[in-house]
Parts: sequence; structure tokens; C-alpha cells
Amino acid sequence: MKKPNIALIGFMGTGKSIIGARLAEILKKKFIEMDDLIVQLAGKSIPNIFAEDGEIRFREYEIQMCKEVSKRKDVVIACGGGVVLNKINIDYLKQSSIVICLKTSPEVILQRISKDGKERRPLLNKPDPMAEIRKLLAFREAFYNAATEYQIDSSNLTVNEVVERIREIFKRESI
Ligand code: S3P
Repeated sequence: MKKPNIALIGFMGTGKSIIGARLAEILKKKFIEMDDLIVQLAGKSIPNIFAEDGEIRFREYEIQMCKEVSKRKDVVIACGGGVVLNKINIDYLKQSSIVICLKTSPEVILQRISKDGKERRPLLNKPDPMAEIRKLLAFREAFYNAATEYQIDSSNLTVNEVVERIREIFKRESI
């Protein structure tokens, strides 16, 4: 079946939002940031969900939103980095999306999240964020690899080059 959507997964700071927004513009699709949908649903920020309700509650919101976006058409979705932790999320996403995983080095991740302000990302708001990045990446690597055959390492690519690769995959898959 032809899939109308693209879902970008991958660790925090791998460029899902910037690449997703650019891709949506080019493909004339709507761009969705899954974390924004969760903030709307919960009526509070991501750090507040983690602090007041806990990570498990956040993961429940995530499952709910993956189910919800699986019913949409012609969207590019930037998923939160932990979406791979519950396999049901990937199953929902794959119902209507080509799932693509972005990868990059821990050094680039640290640079990007430092620029964004680490308060935004409760899991990395720790005294030694680099150690957290390495620990989480090691734990999650198998989940990212299992989620999709489409893995793009963006460490040495520009945003436009990554967008081009995704467009090729999407074109091939939607024939
Ligand atoms: C998370 C990634 C974040 C956000 C939350 C948890 C994760 O999204 O969903 O802080 O577990 O990797 P981004 O990947 O967009 O930063």
C-alpha cells in the first residue's frame, strides 16, 4: 500500500525537526512535531510532564499520539527520540508512514542540545549530559536499528543532502 506520510525517528538532536520541516515544505505536506501535540494534550510542557507525572505517563501520551497520527494523511512527523521504546508506536506509525531513522555522532548531539537549551530535554538535563547521551544511545541502538531499514547518518551531510536522500526513499516506496 502506498503510504502518504513520512515519520522521522532518531535520538534527540539528530535533526528530525529541521529536516522534517524542510521536507514537508518541499513535498507540500503538513509538518507535525509530535512533542507539540503531547504538550497540547497534556496542557503542560515536556519538562513539567516528566517532573509532575513521570516518564511513564509521558510514554503513554506518546503511544496515544502515534495512534492518532497514524490516521492522518500527507504529513511529515518529527517524533520524539524515545518513540522507539514502545514497539507499538512503530507499528502505528508504519500503518501510514515510511519510517526513517536519523543518526549522528554523540558530539554533534551534545552541541545541538546545548544550543537548544538542555532544560527542554529532561533526560539530558544532568550534570554530565555527554555521559547520558552515550548511555542512552548504547541502550537504544538496537531499538533504532530494529525500527526501520532506512537509517541515515547525517554526521557528514547537509540538511539538503539528507532531505534529498529521504525524498528518494519516499519516491521509491510510493511507486
Ligand atoms: C525524548 C526526546 C524528546 C522528548 C522527550 C523525550 C527521548 O524529543 O520527546 O524529552 O526520550 O529521547 P526530541 O527527540 O525531539 O528532543
